[in-house]
Amino acid sequence: SPRPIICFRPIQPSDLGTLEKIHGDLFPIRYESEFFQNVVNGRDIVSWGAIDRNQPSDQSDELVGFVTARIVLAKESEIGDMLSYDPSRSDQTLVYILTLGVVEAYRNLGIAASLIREVIKYASSIPNCRATYLHVISYNNPAIRLYNKMSFKCVRRLQGFYLINGQHYDSYLFVYYVNGG
Ligand code: ACO
Repeated sequence: SPRPIICFRPIQPSDLGTLEKIHGDLFPIRYESEFFQNVVNGRDIVSWGAIDRNQPSDQSDELVGFVTARIVLAKESEIGDMLSYDPSRSDQTLVYILTLGVVEAYRNLGIAASLIREVIKYASSIPNCRATYLHVISYNNPAIRLYNKMSFKCVRRLQGFYLINGQHYDSYLFVYYVNGG
């Protein structure tokens, strides 16, 4: 197949099927159909999609990667105590990354790194936003390497954070501070 030409664009309603399929393929956790509806309609969720312009025309707008995130209030988050802002201010926000994925055929091209950079740019552009953060399951070495490489700080290990098929797994909490954290 030809050399990929990766472009980034907002996720839109026509992405619904592909988005659900990729999430089902890549994640051990099931997401409600309401989650996908919210993503494609931009309801409470911000997202970026990656596509390969060099695919045949019927596939050249098909998602090959995505990142989804939500704005949360810092004081209601679990990392409120890890910020250096004035805790009496109630207008402080954070960007919580919900899901990040790249389909197998497009891995190791820097797509996930670019998607993360978009989230960091977005978070930095919101004056009251102090950080972007995420959870990752403790055995996911490629993702952990990526977050370390992108200068996220691993601030916690959460015992039994995930419950998958009746088994508990730990998670790491990674934070990237913006706007003075
Ligand atoms: N040429 C060659 N290699 C490159 C290039 C390039 N131009 N650019 C980056 N790379 C290397 C990087 O150095 C990195 O290598 P390293 O791990 O040795 O440091 C590697 O490629 C991966 O970086 P990216 O290419 O940016 O990442 P990728 O697009 O392959 O996606 C991801 C990584 C998202 C973890 C992918 O493996 C995936 O979808 N996995 C399954 C789902 C998943 O685990 N998602 C994250 C869960 S956590 C959460 O969702 C909050």
